[in-house]
Order: sequence, then structure tokens, then C-alpha cells
Amino acid sequence: MQVKTYLVTGGAGFIGSNYVKYVLSNFDDVQLIILDALTYAGNYGTIAQDVDNKRCLFIKGNICDQELVSKLFSTHPIEVVVNFAAESHVDRSIENPRLFLETNILGTQNLMDIARKSWATGKDEHGYPTYKPGVRYHQVSTDEVYGSLGAEGYFTETTPLDPRSPYSASKTSADLIVKAYCETYKFPATITRCSNNYGPYHFPEKLIPLIIKNILEGKKLPVYGKGENVRDWLYVEDHCKAIEKVIRKGRVGEVYNIGGHNEKKNIEIVKLTIDTIRHLMETEPAYRSVLKTNLSTVSYDLITYVQDRLGHDMRYAIDPTKMKNELDWTPETTFETGIVKTIRWYLENQQWVEDVTSGEYQNYYERMYSNR
Ligand code: NAD
Ligand code: DAU
Repeated sequence: MQVKTYLVTGGAGFIGSNYVKYVLSNFDDVQLIILDALTYAGNYGTIAQDVDNKRCLFIKGNICDQELVSKLFSTHPIEVVVNFAAESHVDRSIENPRLFLETNILGTQNLMDIARKSWATGKDEHGYPTYKPGVRYHQVSTDEVYGSLGAEGYFTETTPLDPRSPYSASKTSADLIVKAYCETYKFPATITRCSNNYGPYHFPEKLIPLIIKNILEGKKLPVYGKGENVRDWLYVEDHCKAIEKVIRKGRVGEVYNIGGHNEKKNIEIVKLTIDTIRHLMETEPAYRSVLKTNLSTVSYDLITYVQDRLGHDMRYAIDPTKMKNELDWTPETTFETGIVKTIRWYLENQQWVEDVTSGEYQNYYERMYSNR
């Protein structure tokens, strides 16, 4: 069996850590090097048990660091790069756009530049670079590059790019650089654009884990605007499966949309989360020890409508037909099943929540919600 070495950036974050676990438990033919800067969103503890220094190595560092990334390529036989590393939170991008441009655009460019030089074998008759067989760069992108939908329609891979937040503009720029490298250098890259993920290890300042945390603490549940905005929720393991299919079977230079067929208004998500936690507490009383307040507070009274996000995209919805037709991938987890699995995970992993919120989380929370 031929073993391939993957460089997985952002592997200590939400989706990256789920991907690391998925790949290690389902494929014997890969070994991983995780490169992660451990920003507020990254947590070594999430992957500590996966890092065994044989099949999985961890390096703390920045994807923008040329010297470090070059050294990784010269000391390890890296054949695949999966770039999850990013500043990923739209609200934070509204506060501090520059960091998003640095990590999401320049970080992507740095990884690709070092990969293409390290993988180059020569030139073809037209002067284009040629590369070692089997090498691949994969960019993890987002449906937010397509902008905002009205009540009807879906994003396909040919929907024009129309980003509207500093975060989505930075991800779009990265996608364009990847496409440019595919054309100019015939660089062997693929891109996936995914809808909202949910599941274990989701940092609790994104909607679903924030709502779960606040319900358990008896805190208000901040719903932006009228709560009418729609997201297309995808269980994170379904996303990881899709990415691995694209890396193994996807066509170089192509974009693939990945979505959950699970459109929900934010207010529906919040109500369903309250109902599910209440039901679990009533039917499995052992869970009540996690509640920092009385069961009677687990109710819609916690919902509070707050000032809307600036430039808040109204609706996202993915058409994943290309993934189905070309790679035989469809989402397996319904929202109703996935949300119960997710809530159970949070109820059973409160120490993880405490660990990841012990840093600057409190400052962020105060800043974001106290005057809203
Ligand atoms: P996350 O914020 O949970 O994790 C990001 C990880 O990247 C963290 O571990 C962080 O420490 C690391 N990181 C940040 N800057 C870095 C840098 N300069 N160098 C090295 N590491 C750095 O993000 P996520 O939700 O897991 O998203 C992963 C990727 O998927 C991102 O590219 C994001 O744009 C994309 N995406 C996310 C979603 C979603 O719903 N979460 C949906 C579609 C696409
Ligand atoms: O669509 C894919 C994107 O999904 C990814 O590219 C991003 O990295 C990821 O963070 C996510 O972006 P969103 O902005 O959609 O996720 P978030 O969880 O921040 O918000 C989901 C919806 O809930 C959005 O409409 C804003 C709303 N919201 C969010 C928070 C944090 C609230 O109403 N209240 C909140 O407190």
C-alpha cells in the first residue's frame, strides 16, 4: 500500500479536526501533518489524542510563514495540501478585516507557491510547469462567495461570485487566486464551497454552539434581526466525506458545491435547539447535572432579538448536483438527527467547552452582545 502524506492546515479548528478524525479512522493510506497557528479558534486538546507522531504529527505555525512552510515541504514527502486554515467568523471580519485578508488570501497564496515549487518536475512543450504525479492542493471554501439569495433559487458552481462581507470577500479572493494558479501554472488544485456546518467541536461563538451554551447557562439567546435569515445546514462529517472524495476523485481545476439540503431559518434553529435540550433533560434526567439553572428556564423566553449583523446575507442554499453526479456524494445526516447528535455531544463534553472558552472568549462576548 502506498501511503500519502497530507498537510492539513487549520486541523485544530472545527471542520479541520473533524476531518483529521474522519481520515485517520477511515483510511490507512494517509499520514497527516497538521499545521495550525492555534488562534482563539484552534485548540490542541481537540486533536491531542489523534497526534501520535507516526500517522499524525502536529506543528504549531502560521500558513503565512514562508520559512516554516518551506521547511515542512523539504523535510516531509507532502503530496496533498488540504487548506482549512482561515479566519472564519463573519462577525469578527466586520470588526477586523485586515487579519482576514492576511490569513485567508496571503496564507493561501503562500501555501500554493511553496507547493508548486516543491512539486515542480520541469516544463511541458508550451512552457507550463509539470508536477510530480498524484500531487493535489485542495482549498476549502464557502457558499458565502456567491453572496445572498432571495426566497427562490440555489447556488450552483457557475453562480457569479458576489461576496458581501470582509470574510466572504477574503475567501472569494483566495478562490480566485487558486483558479488563477490552475490556469497560469496548471497547478493541480480543486475547490469545494460548502454551506454552514454543525456538529462536535464547533467553537461556541457560532450560532448553534452559542445557543446550546447559553441555554445551559440560562443566558439570553441573541437572534440577529428578525431571525428570518436562512442557512443550509450540513453535518460536519458529511462535509469531511465530501472533501475526501474530491481529493481522491475530483477533477483538477474544478469547483464542487457541498450542501446539506437542510434549509432552516435562524429562529427555527433556535427553537428546535431549545425543544431538543428540554426533551433530552426531561427524558434522560442524568443530563440535568449539566444545566446551570432550572429546567423551567429552558424555554422560548430566553430568545432575544438583537441588532442585525451589518450586511447580513438573507439566504444561502446549495445545489450539490455536481457532487452527486460526478462523485456519488449526497448528505447522509438529516438536520433532525444531526442536531440531536450535536446537542448530546455538547452535553457530554462540557469540559471541552470550558477549555475553549477560557481565553479571550469572554471579552469577545461582552464586546459583541453587551450593547446590541
Ligand atoms: P475555525 O475558525 O473553527 O478553525 C480555523 C482553524 O484555522 C483554527 O484551528 C485556527 O487556529 C487555524 N488558523 C487560523 N489562522 C491561521 C493561520 N494564519 N495559520 C494557521 N492556522 C490558522 O474554522 P472552521 O469553521 O473549521 O472552517 C474551516 C474552513 O472551512 C475555513 O476555511 C472556512 O472558511 C471554511 N468553511 C467553514 C464553514 C463552516 O460552517 N464553519 C462552511 C464553509 C466553509
Ligand atoms: O455558509 C458558510 C459559512 O457559515 C462559513 O463560511 C463560515 O465560516 C461560518 O462561520 C458560517 O457563517 P455564518 O455567518 O452563516 O455562521 P454563524 O454561525 O455566525 O451565523 C449563522 C446565522 O445565525 C447567521 O444568519 C447569523 C445568525 N446569528 C449568529 C450568531 C453568532 C444570530 O442570529 N445570532 C448569533 O449570536
